Amino acid sequence: MARSPGRRPLAQWLVTGAGPWVVGDIDTQPGDVEAFRRENERAGLVRIRRLAVLLMLLNGAAWLTDPWLLDPLPGVQPAMAEGRFAMTIFGVGVLGASYLPPSAAVALAWLSGATLCGGVAYTMGRIGGPSTSWFHSTYPFLFVALLGWAAPLHRAAIVTAFTGCVLAAYFGPHPAYLADPMAGSAIVHLLLTAALVLAVGLGLDRARLRLFLYGRAAGRASARLEARVAEQTQHIQALLDRAETAREDERRELAAELHDETGQVLTGMRLVLRAARARAERAGSPLAPVLAQIAEMMQELGWTVRNLLVRLRPRVLDDLGFVAAAEWLAQRTDALPGLTCAFEARADDAGLSAARATAAFRVLQEALTNAVRHAEASRITVTWDSASESRVLTVADDGRGFDPASPTAGLGLAGMIERARMCGGALDVRAAPGRGATIELTLPIETEEATEDARGGAP
Ligand SMILES: Nc1ncnc2c1ncn2[C@@H]1O[C@H](COP(=O)(O)OP(=O)(O)OP(=O)(O)O)[C@@H](O)[C@H]1O
Ligand SMILES: [Mg+2]
Repeated sequence: MARSPGRRPLAQWLVTGAGPWVVGDIDTQPGDVEAFRRENERAGLVRIRRLAVLLMLLNGAAWLTDPWLLDPLPGVQPAMAEGRFAMTIFGVGVLGASYLPPSAAVALAWLSGATLCGGVAYTMGRIGGPSTSWFHSTYPFLFVALLGWAAPLHRAAIVTAFTGCVLAAYFGPHPAYLADPMAGSAIVHLLLTAALVLAVGLGLDRARLRLFLYGRAAGRASARLEARVAEQTQHIQALLDRAETAREDERRELAAELHDETGQVLTGMRLVLRAARARAERAGSPLAPVLAQIAEMMQELGWTVRNLLVRLRPRVLDDLGFVAAAEWLAQRTDALPGLTCAFEARADDAGLSAARATAAFRVLQEALTNAVRHAEASRITVTWDSASESRVLTVADDGRGFDPASPTAGLGLAGMIERARMCGGALDVRAAPGRGATIELTLPIETEEATEDARGGAP
């Protein structure tokens, strides 16, 4: 806790309530106590409005019962009625004053509290002296002092003022009351109540201040934590982005190398084998059927390598773009037995960056794989459509569906979502058990204006 320059701890506590033993264990910042004071002003005024209304209601209700209760007491009713009337007018005044600017409203509120104590004591004094029970009715009004927060010195001054007002208003107009045998006892009771109000007030003020400061400290701690989590998340996402880009680059390189190296060797081997087979067949060699078997195996090997190449990185994506690659992928799926896969392109892929085209292709690949592997679908529909400054890829199947909210061990769906995020897009999974599944990927595209803007508007 920052100590006010030049102020001793005791003086600091008396004036601000924020002594080191009160707030020393809380992570406070300069300005916190001032913020508490302002907040307390606002809350205190709300409490005063509520109390004013409550007291006016109670006063009104008691007013109605006075004729019965006070009937046996001669002369009490008129004084009480005047007091109740004054209290109603006073209550309205307090309510109105509470809407003044806060500093004036707070000063007036404390003044009103003292006036209330004095007013009640004056009325009670008119009704009876210390040997009657009327004086005791003033005690509860001292508790009005607890309505708002005050620094210790201020608190002591308020309680003293409230008590002084009671004594002055009760005994002032009737000095003879001081000679009453019960006067000493009545005054001691009043002072004891005042001491109680002071002690409760100091405890309450301390608790209110600490609670507020704890709240501020907790808010700051949680903001710090949030910032750290956001920073870490950003860091992890950057790492994921880099890992994904590296994986895709590696796949592309591997595909190119595999294509160039094995493609040539395989073609060469096939030519040599064809010539050897022809010779062996012409010479009627027993090796001819063996060579034929090898040729068949070579063809299978060729298919395997081509499949591998396609899985690593289809050339069509780099050569002809996303739409052609998507159509090609859909055709491959359509060729599988017991399944139709229709592809409809309602938009082109202009403005789709290479990274986004790759992401869309991988999402389509995974969505089709899932539909084939898990859905038992008979029909899959793939559409590529345009929306405002974006493209939408939809893969819908009529299979068994699933609950997207239930956790799975697979990585496919999570990977699709991550790819969409990395590209500034979004992935929507709509599925329910027994009702098929639809995967919708939305990707932003670079419009001509955006590209122009990026180029600095150069024509
Ligand atoms: N089109 C679909 N129809 C029915 N169920 C699906 C469909 N797509 C996904 N699922 C269900 O969601 C689960 C999670 O799919 P996800 O692609 O994340 O993992 P996976 O396919 O099981 O494994 P991975 O993709 O990692 O090889 C699947 O196991 C499957 O139960
Ligand atoms: Mg999968």
